[in-house]
Amino acid sequence: MSIAGKHIIVGISGGIAAYKTLSLIRFFIQNGAEVKTVTTPNALHFVTKLSLQTLSKNNVYDDMFADVGEISTAHISLADWADAMIVAPATANIIGKFANGIADDALSTTFLALDKPVFIAPAMNSRMYDHAAVQQNLQTLAHRGVHIIEPPCGELACGDQGKGRMQEPEVIYERIAGFFLSHKKFLGKKVLVTAGPTYEAIDPVRFIGNHSSGLMGICIADEFANRGADVVLVCGPSAIKSKNSAVKRIDVVSAKEMFEVCKQHFETADITVCSAAVADYAPQQIATQKIKKSDENLSLELVKNPDILKYLGEHKTPNQILVGFALETENEMQNAENKLKSKNLDMLVLNSLNDQGAGFGHSTNKISIMFSNQIPKHFELKSKDAVAKDIINEILNYI
Ligand code: CTP
Repeated sequence: MSIAGKHIIVGISGGIAAYKTLSLIRFFIQNGAEVKTVTTPNALHFVTKLSLQTLSKNNVYDDMFADVGEISTAHISLADWADAMIVAPATANIIGKFANGIADDALSTTFLALDKPVFIAPAMNSRMYDHAAVQQNLQTLAHRGVHIIEPPCGELACGDQGKGRMQEPEVIYERIAGFFLSHKKFLGKKVLVTAGPTYEAIDPVRFIGNHSSGLMGICIADEFANRGADVVLVCGPSAIKSKNSAVKRIDVVSAKEMFEVCKQHFETADITVCSAAVADYAPQQIATQKIKKSDENLSLELVKNPDILKYLGEHKTPNQILVGFALETENEMQNAENKLKSKNLDMLVLNSLNDQGAGFGHSTNKISIMFSNQIPKHFELKSKDAVAKDIINEILNYI
C-alpha cells in the first residue's frame, strides 16, 4: 500500500460532517498510515476527543496553550512529522483563515507552519459554498498548490439540495492514497514540457504568432512537479506564471529557440509532453529595421520551422515516453490517429476547436486521449488544472 508508513495530519473544523472524519481516520489506520489529529475548538462540538484519540491512537492537538513547553511548539513538530495534511471537513471559516494567513488556533497555526501537501474537503451549505468570498478563497488556496477535494452535489444536513456536502471518506482516502502512489512513480523522474505559442519575428516590432496562452502546458508542468517529478518547462511568450516554484522554466520566443532548448533536455527526460502551439513557418528574413508601408501588397517568404515533436519522436529510446497534442478543426479522429503514428508518439491529447470552451484562450479544455490501437477516451469539459490531472493520470497508468 502506498500510504503505509505515511504520517498524516487529519485536521477537523466545526461542521456536522466531522462525524464522517472518524471513518476517514479508520481508512488511514487500516492501511498502515499513522494519524495525528488537529481540531478547532468548534470541531469538538461534533466529535469527541476520546473518539479521535482512540481511533488515531494519538493525542489530539486542539489547544495551542494547553501545556506550556512541548505543546507550545507542537504545530512546528507536527509539521516536521507530517507527510501530508487533510482538513475534513473544512468550513468556510477555516478556508478563509487558510487563504488569508490567519493563525489563531491549533489548526490554522499548523496549516501555516506546514510545507507539505495539503488537501482540504470543504463542507458547508451550498449558498455559502457558492459565495464569491468562499470561491475566491478556494481559488487562492488552489493557486498555492492546496488540493481541493470538491464537494459532490446532493442533500445537505440542512435539507437543502446542492453542492456543499463533504466528499465521502472513501473518496477522500482514495484521492490521498492515489497522490502518494503517483508521487512514488513520478518522484525523481525527469519531465520535459513545452507550452505556449512561439513568436516568429518579421522585423524588430512585428511577429507571426497565435492565440495560445500557454495555460494548458503550464498546468501540466505544475501538476508533474506537484507529484514529485523534476520538471523542465520550455515556454513560449506567456504572461501566465508557474504556480509550483520547483518547475525549472526556460522562457523562449521562437520555434528555433524552443527546439534548441528541447534538444538539450530531451536525452535525459523520462517523459516529454509537447503542448506548445509551435508556429509551423517563420519569415525567411527578419528585417533589421521596421518595415515601412509602401506598396499595396506585401509578401513575406516563409520557411518551415523544425517540427520539434517529430524530431523527438525520431530520436526517442524505448524507455522514453512522448506525448503530443493535436488541435484539429476537421476529421479529428483520423488526423489525430495519423499524428500519433507519424510522430512516433506514445499518447496523443486531442482538443477540438469545435468544442465550446476548449482550446485557445479558455481556462477550460475538453480533450480526448488516444494511445496506439486503442479506443480513444473522451473527457468532459474541465478546468485546465483538472485536465492536466487527467492527462498525468493517463500517463501514470501507461508507465
Ligand atoms: N509541434 C512541434 N513543433 C512544430 C509543430 C508542432 O513540436 N513545429 C507539436 C505541438 O507541440 C503538438 C503537435 O506537434 O504537440 C501537434 O501540432 P499541430 O500543429 O496540431 O500539428 P502539426 O504536426 O503541426 O500538423 P498540422 O499543422 O498539419 O495539423
